[in-house]
Amino acid sequence: MLHGKKIILGITGGIAAYKSAFLVRLFVKAGAEVQVVMTPSAKEFITPVTLSALTGKPVVSEFFTANTGSWNSHVDLGLWADAMVIAPATACTIAKMATGVADNMLVTTYLSMKAPVFVAPAMDLDMMNHPSTKHNLDLLHSYGNHIIEPAVGELASHLVGKGRMEEPENIVKALDDFFSSCRDLAGRKVLVTAGPTYEKIDPVRFIGNYSSGKMGFSIAEECAARGAEVILVSGPVSLTCHNSAVKRIDVESAAQMLDAAVGEFSGCDAAVMCAAVADYCVANQASHKIKRETDDVPVIHLQKNKDIAATLGASKRQGQVLVGFALETDNEIDNAVAKLRRKNLDFIVLNSLRDPDAGFISDTNKVTVIRSTGEKLPFATKPKSLVAKDIVDIIVHDYLNEK
Ligand code: PMT
Repeated sequence: MLHGKKIILGITGGIAAYKSAFLVRLFVKAGAEVQVVMTPSAKEFITPVTLSALTGKPVVSEFFTANTGSWNSHVDLGLWADAMVIAPATACTIAKMATGVADNMLVTTYLSMKAPVFVAPAMDLDMMNHPSTKHNLDLLHSYGNHIIEPAVGELASHLVGKGRMEEPENIVKALDDFFSSCRDLAGRKVLVTAGPTYEKIDPVRFIGNYSSGKMGFSIAEECAARGAEVILVSGPVSLTCHNSAVKRIDVESAAQMLDAAVGEFSGCDAAVMCAAVADYCVANQASHKIKRETDDVPVIHLQKNKDIAATLGASKRQGQVLVGFALETDNEIDNAVAKLRRKNLDFIVLNSLRDPDAGFISDTNKVTVIRSTGEKLPFATKPKSLVAKDIVDIIVHDYLNEK
């Protein structure tokens, strides 16, 4: 599963850094492309020359390359990688990652990372047991990072206990297992709608809403990362999708979104309707810019847009999974359940504007999944990428694999 994967190996300053050379060898042998990013103190334990000879790439360690003055872009590295592994991860780097102290190339790369991050701690047993280290590892876990627990054994101090960096073979296996289990949507096709719709008033004005597209794009990326072919029908947003398995169809109005979604749905195994679709469009759209020179105040006549989710719900065939969202401001559960029924959804994802850090624009969301059986699954506030994972887990485990 690692063949062709792009892996950033972050190495920090601990004695286990000598094992990084073996780790690089194993990744390369498995067909992965490896880019090493080292902290300055890691170079005290293993030389960049060794690592660049093994990876075939210059090691990145400083923000600027001294002899050319060129800038090493942590943002580009964050976009390039399929995974980042920090091995060994010292208590100091773990603390910096937990609190966002971006004072070296490794932590800035970590903070820019779009791909999954694996952390293999290595330190003496008392440091490992310290409440501060435990708390920081809990924080990394809560950010969605994967902690590769250190092994128990003899440490560099000759004490015996938990703190040895996991063996390179097991670190490679952890990534291999991760990428294998992540292909649970291989061979499946998923339709996702995202973003707002714009309903034209005249050639320069529209009725729209605050949707940024972040929630829908996270779902599309999660499905693609798990092996699905994804059709992403997006309203006007300023986001980019980096996975080539995502075919993006850009639309502006609800009518265009309806056409695109209806055209794709029959070939899909699942559809997630995350877009914030305008319920009304302008019946008396002006063909020229409306002027304010007259005393008359223009009147905008609205007419109902067709409900995209309900249209798909009416044609849903046995085995297809249809998921909707409900964005509410009051009477949340009752409104969401009514939408679930009206649109013939398998489940609906409720988010409320009364919850801080939920709904539009923010990078986090707080959702409650309501199934057609009436069962409710509340989730904590999380980054939208992890909310997407929760939703896709439910689609895969409770619906697609059930049918
Ligand atoms: O894009 P972000 O900034 O990340 O914000 C995410 C979000 C808040 C937009 C998202 O989490 C969300 O809640 N999306 C649905 C918003 C919405 O319009 O909900 P609704 O309750 O009005 O619609 C219910 C469902 O019917 C939705 O699945 C919607 O896509 C669908 N619908 C609505 C109207 C319509 N004409 N056609 C539809 O398909």
